Amino acid sequence: MDLRLFLLPLLLLLTPSFISARKIPLPPDVQAEGTTHAQGSNYFASDLRSGAVFLVDISTGLITTAVPPAPNRAAVGLTFTGKRLFVSGGSGRGADGMARMYVYDSVFGTTVASCAAMPAGFVNDVITDRRFAYYTDSFAGVLYRLRLSKLPACDVETIRLPRPAFGAEAGVFKANGIVKFRGGLLVGNSALATVFFIDLLNENKAQRVLPVGSIPGTDGYVLALRGRRAFFYVTQNREGLVSEWRLRMKRRSVSAMFLRNITSDAFDYPTTIALNGDTLVAANARFDAASPGAPIPEGVVFSLGVTNI
Ligand SMILES: *[C@@H]1O[C@H](CO)[C@@H](O)[C@H](O)[C@H]1NC(C)=O
Repeated sequence: MDLRLFLLPLLLLLTPSFISARKIPLPPDVQAEGTTHAQGSNYFASDLRSGAVFLVDISTGLITTAVPPAPNRAAVGLTFTGKRLFVSGGSGRGADGMARMYVYDSVFGTTVASCAAMPAGFVNDVITDRRFAYYTDSFAGVLYRLRLSKLPACDVETIRLPRPAFGAEAGVFKANGIVKFRGGLLVGNSALATVFFIDLLNENKAQRVLPVGSIPGTDGYVLALRGRRAFFYVTQNREGLVSEWRLRMKRRSVSAMFLRNITSDAFDYPTTIALNGDTLVAANARFDAASPGAPIPEGVVFSLGVTNI
């Protein structure tokens, strides 16, 4: 008998790309909407329902608590800077009803700052650069710019996003994912299924990068620089995929060229992604099966989806 017939399936099993597509189940009741890379094979996952942040080792499946749950808190999109976690707080749930932006110490899990956003706001995602954290507000049509050097004080400036594209409409999610790109910010608009460039170096002038409707289900973003080339990854939640685009800038004008759709068995209504090398990790929030405001239906499992790109 030919031994190769037996060895071939074994080799396929051992191929990293084959092993890579997998789901890491989260503890029951943990509906992670946000994820970001921590270190090595560790990724943070933020719990929409409790405000907690977990550290998930995708190589062992071991999960530890990075930030404990807190009453009236939610954790939506998040970003990590090496010792601090910047966490979007969703809508206002506390006594004062203000939507919030959180900053946590990632080692001790303590609150560094809890900054008020607009009362009717929904703080959805966040990105940092050396000087600021920029949080998006899906309902208020603004970005919040938090000055890092003033922490733990909340030195927050509001950047108004263009109308009518980002104008407040009850219950309509607009500003969503955010990444920094060449002195400006790419900010998704979920209602219009497109992305805008807010040019911080040019009086916050806004430009629509893609035609309306180009990226249905647009949610969390990642930007990857490879040499001089910029690659833009768009989580498209209800499409169950991540699209890859090549970004260019000419005279402060941004263009995005479609490269491919990344699909995977590991994606299950992904809302945000983290990329480390060629490992792509998605927070599978399962909004198709579990509405954040309602009890979790029997049998719904939340996970981080891991795939190689
Ligand atoms: C990529 O996915 C979108 C859905 O968002 C779909 O309309 C489009 O046809 C896909 N493109 C390719 C090349 O598969």
